[in-house]
Amino acid sequence: MKKYALLLTLTSVILAMTAHAQQASRFFPEKDLVTTGIYYYPEHWKEDQWERDIARIAEMGFTFVHLAEFAWFRMEPEEGKFNFTWLDKVLGLCAKYKLKVLMCTPSATTPAWMRTGYPETFVMDGHYIRGEHGTRGLGSIVNPVYRRFVEKIVTEMARRYGRDENIIGWQLDNEPDAKPDYSPSSQEAFRKWLKNKYKTIDALNAAWGAAFWSQWYNNFDQVIIPNTTLVGWWGNNPHALLDFKRYSADAQAEFLDLEAGILRKFISPDQFVTTNYTAVCTGADPRRTRKLDFATYTAYPNGGTDNIGDQGFRLGNSGVVLFASEYYKSVGGSSGVMEMQPGPVNWGGYNPLLLPGTVRMWLYHSFAAGGKLACSYRFRQINYSAEQYHAGVIKTDGVTASQGGEEYIQFMKEVKELRRLYRPGSKMPEKLAARRTAILWDLENYWSIDRQKQTFQWDAWNYPVKFMQLAKGLGAPVDVVGPTADLTKYKVVIVPAYEMVDSSLVNKWRDYVAGGGHLIITCRTATKDYQGHFWEAGWAAPISGLIGAHVKGNDMLPGNGNGDVLMKLMHYRWNNWADLLEPDTGTEVLAVFDNQFYKGTPAVIKRKIGKGTVTYVGADTDGSELEKSLLRDVYVEAGASTDDYPPGVYVYWRDGFYIAVNYSSGEYAMNLPADARILIGERILKPAGVLVWRE
Ligand code: GAL
Repeated sequence: MKKYALLLTLTSVILAMTAHAQQASRFFPEKDLVTTGIYYYPEHWKEDQWERDIARIAEMGFTFVHLAEFAWFRMEPEEGKFNFTWLDKVLGLCAKYKLKVLMCTPSATTPAWMRTGYPETFVMDGHYIRGEHGTRGLGSIVNPVYRRFVEKIVTEMARRYGRDENIIGWQLDNEPDAKPDYSPSSQEAFRKWLKNKYKTIDALNAAWGAAFWSQWYNNFDQVIIPNTTLVGWWGNNPHALLDFKRYSADAQAEFLDLEAGILRKFISPDQFVTTNYTAVCTGADPRRTRKLDFATYTAYPNGGTDNIGDQGFRLGNSGVVLFASEYYKSVGGSSGVMEMQPGPVNWGGYNPLLLPGTVRMWLYHSFAAGGKLACSYRFRQINYSAEQYHAGVIKTDGVTASQGGEEYIQFMKEVKELRRLYRPGSKMPEKLAARRTAILWDLENYWSIDRQKQTFQWDAWNYPVKFMQLAKGLGAPVDVVGPTADLTKYKVVIVPAYEMVDSSLVNKWRDYVAGGGHLIITCRTATKDYQGHFWEAGWAAPISGLIGAHVKGNDMLPGNGNGDVLMKLMHYRWNNWADLLEPDTGTEVLAVFDNQFYKGTPAVIKRKIGKGTVTYVGADTDGSELEKSLLRDVYVEAGASTDDYPPGVYVYWRDGFYIAVNYSSGEYAMNLPADARILIGERILKPAGVLVWRE
């Protein structure tokens, strides 16, 4: 017994020392395909309802219950006085009904005594106003007092539950997003971070270009967090602001690793450690963490925004699960969705009913993209408080399944059937492998470009998503990868508006092409170094050898502007961004600008290097038809076939199953081979429809 314990401890220590020590696949057997769970907050309900609720969770078909996320006030009702008897009772009920548990650390919501006794534990906003008790995510993660309290509660929980065999894993905090914090603790931590990065104040002054507007510093003590709230847009120093983003993201990652490190000391290696990033997470950088086994995301595709076609406002944004499910794989591989919207929410501009089938379709989408876990916020719709209008899978009476609840039940039944049909060891079909595509993306570039858009039309988050949608429309499997990824397994790599580079990254791209890869680089790439400075050379100088051209200038038009690009006798409209190109001899011109004073100037070019090709797309067109046509040609050049799905129809392959979902407002007839066997759904996909088949 002792030997076993020692072995476990040693394993935990070794795992803790390795970055992203474990892959999600270690915790979720492939044959289970996907494990489903639900958020339950016993602290919101009368104790005599707990058993009824937990029995119902089991009856609906869920396999695990997500607990304790915001329950700090119950676990430590007074400073230093812990009470877990209520949670033990809930765990007992879960075990009784054969439900596993996903335990959470409660650091996102601190108890009232903390604000009263220790106001410094809260962040300050850009007006230097302290956060107040009553919401979540306002703890100052760099404040030593707050951190000590977090360490204590996490230690207590880990000690108590770390060996409970019914607990499958841990979620840290809630939707960490590296909130900007201007408190004194954060000012100090920022200066420390800067000292560590720059060593000397001269190096900082040079990196920040501090000679501009007398921003010059004589020593680190003079430096404060750049604060656009107070100095306004013109007062921004983009390099200082970029460093503030980096510091905030590092602090967030370090804070998560602090919690993970404590857990690791006590918990079994069979329990995973993860967190739930928002699908569109612009502050926290998951790739900066070191101790999570994998990352999950929270998906709320429908916040009352219009999308594809007249039913789009019910079906939700088709880019949410699409991008997040691939992006978060970069930490620990395929994991899944921690919060899937179960129905209308309370925070959209308006919150419409979802088209019947929508929740099920989202679940299938996440599953199709490799999701091994699908969990939903929340079980019962709460009858009171800030989120009382937010749907649950159970309605306000506490017992009746909502529309989303019924769709969960259906999904879970269908997954059981798919498990029966599952055959181990299937390999991605050759036709799909031949189109494997990577989108190169990094949050730092998002920060940089979003700060200095240059045109109100630039959508820094959705620009890469657009390329993902185009590649999916052509039927390609698409990964979202970071700068250190191995590119050689991809036939096509797309580099959309990747601003900050160095020569080694560009050399890596060149090697990829020389080895037979097909690289597509777009406008706004390689214009800056990692500090965000332009090169003291031609525009985008590091890539001019690679693309075989110089970028002479960039143009932008008003929103109703009518820029024209001509390619293969077809005209395409643009008004967002244009890179005017001057190709070297030997570089092929694929498209030219066909109006404005620079009519005839190349807009898209291509060249061969070694066994591969580089295409440079200098224009961001309105309907993206030009980009789609180029992409199709690149697949052809790569020897791959393509499909042609309408916007919002996505087709995936996983574990031997083909899965199609339809976010569009129209029906789509899937073209299936004669020997295809339909397992779920119908060949004609209705809006919110799902089709699963085998070929
Ligand atoms: C999520 C959050 C949940 C809940 C939900 C409401 O972003 O993680 O706790 O508030 O939004 O839609």
